[in-house]
Amino acid sequence: MEWISPRRLKRLGMLNMNRRNVDYIARYNERSSYPLVDNKLKTKLVVAEYGVKTPRLLQIVREQHEISHFREMAEDLKGFAIKPAKGSGGKGITVITGRDGDEYIKASGARVDAPYLERHLTNILAGLYSLAGTPDVAIVENLVQSDPDLARYSHQGVPDIRIVVFQGYPVMAMLRLATTASDGKANLHQGAVGVGLDIGTGRSLNAVQFNRPITLHPDTGLALENIEIAAWDEMLEMASRCYEATGLGYMGVDLVVDANEGPLLLELNARPGLAIQMANGCGLLPRLRAIENLKRPHFSPGERAQFAMETFASR
Ligand SMILES: Nc1ncnc2c1ncn2[C@@H]1O[C@H](COP(=O)(O)OP(=O)(O)O)[C@@H](O)[C@H]1O
Ligand SMILES: [Mg+2]
Repeated sequence: MEWISPRRLKRLGMLNMNRRNVDYIARYNERSSYPLVDNKLKTKLVVAEYGVKTPRLLQIVREQHEISHFREMAEDLKGFAIKPAKGSGGKGITVITGRDGDEYIKASGARVDAPYLERHLTNILAGLYSLAGTPDVAIVENLVQSDPDLARYSHQGVPDIRIVVFQGYPVMAMLRLATTASDGKANLHQGAVGVGLDIGTGRSLNAVQFNRPITLHPDTGLALENIEIAAWDEMLEMASRCYEATGLGYMGVDLVVDANEGPLLLELNARPGLAIQMANGCGLLPRLRAIENLKRPHFSPGERAQFAMETFASR
């Protein structure tokens, strides 16, 4: 696997933070669309209208008195995730993967009881995890059970696939794998591994951790060079469809592959990070310009995904 220095990346058209903010986020994202993607409940409801699946919603807790229904609702569930609608960076998310009698087993293996989860719901409503500490809503959704082919690469957490979508075109993608350092979360700045994916095929390119090249997963020891994402064209089309749903011109679309349900949308991000370029060994700028220079943009998500696969494939 060839490594490319940051200096050479710049020559290859690496998008920097300032340019991203000014030329892309400010220019292509309507401010009025932000509340939609900064709220996971709103995102879920809106994308559903556009045929984009998310993990099944089990309960919405808007007010303290609704917490009393939680225990009954969770009675027969094997696994679920509780999250703050307005949370970010993995804060306030509790993932329950199993039951043992009255106890719930967390993704980390720790055991908690129902009163613990009820207090967690109370904290979410109080705004403990929302930006600016404003009151929030808690959502309980079905546990994502990662496709085993992909799950084996990730340490504890669910691997996710980040796709940058520009004007409805998927332009760059990476697989994010949780590590011990990232504490089961797939956030790169917390130490998750980013594996660039060929837009043309869904096959792995370079891999990075903390912006440095790696070839093996630091915990699982598995080689990262021959990963291939199944149903790749379907995933790209799904990401592309989020453009119609939100109107956001420049966004990060985070997908997971559920063993039973297939690709699901986890969340949308109106300010996607730039490290995806390191994982891909190439810059975003040439691709963004190719889209900006299109004389006749494609109308359907399927056509845009197809165009991206042909145009941005690495050869
Ligand atoms: N329904 C779910 N089932 C299993 N794990 C989940 C679920 N929802 C979230 N997670 C885990 O929590 C992490 C963060 O969730 P996400 O919805 O992306 O919120 P954030 O805005 O905090 O990044 C995911 O990367 C995944 O590991
Ligand atoms: Mg996330």
